[in-house]
Amino acid sequence: MYLQLSTWQEVEVYLERSKAVLIPIGSTEQHGPNGFIGTDALCPEILARGIEAEIGCLVAPTLPIGMAQHHLGFSGSITLRPTTLIAVVQDVVDSLARHGFERFYFLNGHGGNIATVSAAFSEIYAEASLGKADPKRPPLRCKLKNWWENAAVQRISKERFGNAEGGHATCSEVSLTYYGYPQHRKNAEMSPEIAPTGPIYDSADYRLRFPDGRIGSNPALASVEAGKVLFEGAVPFLAADFRAFAEAH
Ligand code: NI
Repeated sequence: MYLQLSTWQEVEVYLERSKAVLIPIGSTEQHGPNGFIGTDALCPEILARGIEAEIGCLVAPTLPIGMAQHHLGFSGSITLRPTTLIAVVQDVVDSLARHGFERFYFLNGHGGNIATVSAAFSEIYAEASLGKADPKRPPLRCKLKNWWENAAVQRISKERFGNAEGGHATCSEVSLTYYGYPQHRKNAEMSPEIAPTGPIYDSADYRLRFPDGRIGSNPALASVEAGKVLFEGAVPFLAADFRAFAEAH
């Protein structure tokens, strides 16, 4: 069930059986020479389709822009400041909580969102703890789940890509988007074959350290076929994880 394709009456009926919602969250940022700028938003969105097909959970619209300040040295990248992203997450949760949703499962596609979204959750809990939230509102629970952090994806990535998986513009994320959008896949030379690794500071420093945008990866190894295997491995795990979160006491 997709929020954007539902009526308000259908949402009311859903709320009678579940108070949990899945919200894909990503980023709009460069992903090297052969990765889509939308990679981090597309990956959780593609997986959410599989999860929805398996368990019929409500999927909210993807939040496609995240905290990506370090990528702004590359054309097309867009960032929210951490404070802006915190406000966006809070407003989305508050809006849905007003209708009766209590469990918010953010399926995340971008490592750079983790600290900020976790801070947003703390702001949401602090509202209740400080007595600022509506006392009639039931307790809210939020979870941030990085799609790549599950046993299936880790195993497949290790078997197929080994040390070429990398940390940004990874073989796995590029493969998953190629599976979702095969007609848009790209061919590009990777030089060097495996990109450098290092720390992340601001966008000018990032561009100097990682000239083509990749970190530690060789996404020339990405393929539609690997993306399919990753999708089929990840979906059952994530569906079970969502269900456990939705039903936990
Ligand atoms: Ni990414």
